[in-house]
Amino acid sequence: MKADEAYSLGQRREAGSEGESVAVIRSVILGVGAYLPKRRMTNDDMAKIVDTTDEWIVERTGIKARHIAADGELTSDLGIAAAHQALERSGLTASDIDLVICATATPDRTFPATAVRIQSKLGITHGAAFDIQAVCSGFVYGMTTADNFLKAGQFKRALVIGAETFSRILDWNDRTTCVLFGDGAGAVVLEAQAQTGTREDRGIIATRIRSDGRYEDLLYVDGGPGSTRTTGHLRMNGREVFRHAVNKISGVIEETLAESGYKADEIDLFVPHQANARILDGIAKKLKVSPEKIVMTLSQHGNTSAASIPLALNQAFEQGRIDKGSLVLMEAMGGGFTWGAVLARW
Ligand code: UT7
Repeated sequence: MKADEAYSLGQRREAGSEGESVAVIRSVILGVGAYLPKRRMTNDDMAKIVDTTDEWIVERTGIKARHIAADGELTSDLGIAAAHQALERSGLTASDIDLVICATATPDRTFPATAVRIQSKLGITHGAAFDIQAVCSGFVYGMTTADNFLKAGQFKRALVIGAETFSRILDWNDRTTCVLFGDGAGAVVLEAQAQTGTREDRGIIATRIRSDGRYEDLLYVDGGPGSTRTTGHLRMNGREVFRHAVNKISGVIEETLAESGYKADEIDLFVPHQANARILDGIAKKLKVSPEKIVMTLSQHGNTSAASIPLALNQAFEQGRIDKGSLVLMEAMGGGFTWGAVLARW
């Protein structure tokens, strides 16, 4: 069955009599791209602004540098640059895309969605575009949402973008938060393709998203159009967030693996949200994932929220660590709390 034919028939179609495989639609990753603003700020640069040291930041987080968007450079600009690269590597043009999802907590404007501006600047006038707000879990939420639309047959090809300019919501006097975050964007192109319905299929194999608003006050922005009529600044109780991170992330990974039938040691590449190297070490130990399978971009990008997973995917792709057939596990946790995981075969 051709992909288009299966697509038009929806998610699931019996291929034939008993014993034959069952065709399913899966969201196959066709390409990845990323963009980082030119300006790079090292820990020593940070030490000129707040009372901190390179030693403290490296020891507690693993971060050495981050990129900061130029004045007038918007989240949509970062997202568009990443999208162009992802489209080029997918061998597609923008007109092939009928769904644009932008995961961001730092939109250009309160409304309309940054995704709509990206859609428009890419020259796409058909299909739909919207933002997803799940902070650092945004890319995992975006992939899950796109996957469900593609599997349902409502769209054929999706651009899932994670783009952030967290530098705009940081309190640059607060050393406990401003040293942690950076700006950037990453994007992937997904295409609905007919697969055999086995765990060897290419594409997204399993997803899990979770949230629990009881933890809202541990990581939030203290402003918003509806409450203060201001943008506000990021506030975080880092120690408490840390305390929850390893268990919540490990839990959702275990659920995703159980659904897919894979074991942690079968994963080729682990592409986590980049918040803190110590959290990633903790998860790796708990799940018994060997450190060389983990993609770490934290040292050079800091925490770029929804952009961190596609930025890390892009780095792994450029370093030749991902190839057709690679089994890739992505995970994230962020404000809300929100958290989740995506298992995909490249
Ligand atoms: O992506 C969203 C999810 N976010 C996360 O996953 C973040 C999770 N949390 C963390 O990564 C860590 O908790 C932090 C990196 C934020 C902080 O590390 P920590 O080991 O939990 O440090 P702490 O907050 O317990 O602070 C230890 C000390 C404090 O001093 P006192 O009270 O012990 O005297 C802080 O004031 O370190 C001090 N401190 C700093 N010192 C130098 C806090 N920030 C800094 C700094 N430079 N930038």
